[in-house]
Amino acid sequence: MAQDRGQFSSKLGFILAAAGSAVGLGNLVAFPVMASKNGGAAFLIIYLFFVAFICYPVMMAEIAMGRSTNRNPVGAFSTLSGGKLVWRLAGMLAILTPFMIAVFYTVITVWLVVYIKEIFSGNLDLLSRPGNFGEVVARPSLFAYLVSLLFLIFFILLGGVKGGIERLARVLMPTLAIMLVLLVAFVLTLDNASIGVSYYLVPDFGRVDLAVINGALSQAFFSLSLGMGILITYGSYFNRKDNIAQSARMVAIADTSIAFFAGMLILPAIFAFDPNTNTDDLSTSSVGLIFDFLPQIFLSMQETVGFGGASVAAGVFFTLVFFAALTSLVSIIEIPIACWIDELGFSRKKAVLFQAVLLTAFAIPATMSLGISDFFTNFTSYGGVSKSFFDLVSDVFYETILPFVGFTVCIFCAYNWRVSGLKEELVIGDDSYSGSLVEKYINFSLGTVIPAVLLIVFISTVNQIYL
Ligand code: PHE
Repeated sequence: MAQDRGQFSSKLGFILAAAGSAVGLGNLVAFPVMASKNGGAAFLIIYLFFVAFICYPVMMAEIAMGRSTNRNPVGAFSTLSGGKLVWRLAGMLAILTPFMIAVFYTVITVWLVVYIKEIFSGNLDLLSRPGNFGEVVARPSLFAYLVSLLFLIFFILLGGVKGGIERLARVLMPTLAIMLVLLVAFVLTLDNASIGVSYYLVPDFGRVDLAVINGALSQAFFSLSLGMGILITYGSYFNRKDNIAQSARMVAIADTSIAFFAGMLILPAIFAFDPNTNTDDLSTSSVGLIFDFLPQIFLSMQETVGFGGASVAAGVFFTLVFFAALTSLVSIIEIPIACWIDELGFSRKKAVLFQAVLLTAFAIPATMSLGISDFFTNFTSYGGVSKSFFDLVSDVFYETILPFVGFTVCIFCAYNWRVSGLKEELVIGDDSYSGSLVEKYINFSLGTVIPAVLLIVFISTVNQIYL
């Protein structure tokens, strides 16, 4: 069993892999739109505050739980609590959540592949037509793309922690950063781009209310891939001589910087398209924005750079989003795999195959949820709205459960493992932790302010979606 667990080759390997997980659709699309709707730099300041004071301690706690036990979330909760059932259940929730999130994240990634193929086949104009997205997601040919994507992902995961996950992140993360910088530089040369920049960067505190604050915290939590057992599992592959506090900080900085730069890309592009854009009208859904709106924006660039130039810009952008989604997806699917290896004693190969079968079984109905099958499209209804199977999975696991799992991690570390146990792990590889301000802050807040805030976010989300 032990030889199948694997380890990152270095601190940098861990940072790149964890940043690969963290950088995803949330950074590239959701963050810029939320920021511009909710007061620009005012939102950014609140977001940074939450990253530093709520998310960073939770990141450290998750990594420490994984590294100290060398286990997946179920194993970590169970080992540290001496096998208590309630904590085993908390661990299971941290496996079930990524398991289900992988289902709909896979479907979104399949759409990205279809868009990239269409753009590079010279069909950007078709993608920009109103209603096109509804047509793409109802195409039966999606299954062929689904199968190819699943083969690619499970092939990467068969390569293990170092040869698969880390290697992928080492290639894709720097590539992604370069592509982003080039696209930002290009977009800033467009007419009216500066209106977008000032919209993004001028603070407007008048727009900040409780809902905005709540949204900023959910977004920060989601963007850092917290509450999903990801950092527990990645922590279990993290070398004992390396520094947890510093590595977590690097991941948070990388994730937040990419989100920030994505804003410097998306908003100038939107304002170059229409200088009178009212950002309140922009869809809050990342999916609607990426697949409905952005192709139109890229197509509009043809007036300055021609259809070919616009297609290349769109192609680079969609490839960038695809890379971000792929590294996130690999991290999500690794969590149940680690659980099968640790808890069921499977070899990596057997665990990967087992997970491939399970994921395929759920991804098929999710793919059929947007028009292919009536049953899955109108699967259920709550909060007064009809919901597809895809919506159900996304609402329950993506939108709702994450802060709750974060809450259980804090309560567990503060009261069961105890702050002293956590500290014992955090000082390994970090001489400066003991007595530091970070330590004092964690000792004070991990059992009090942080879980309280996460619980409030959880309750208000439940209230908003289901009641
Ligand atoms: N953190 C990723 C983002 O910002 C999303 C993600 C979700 C990653 C779930 C892993 C798991 O988009």
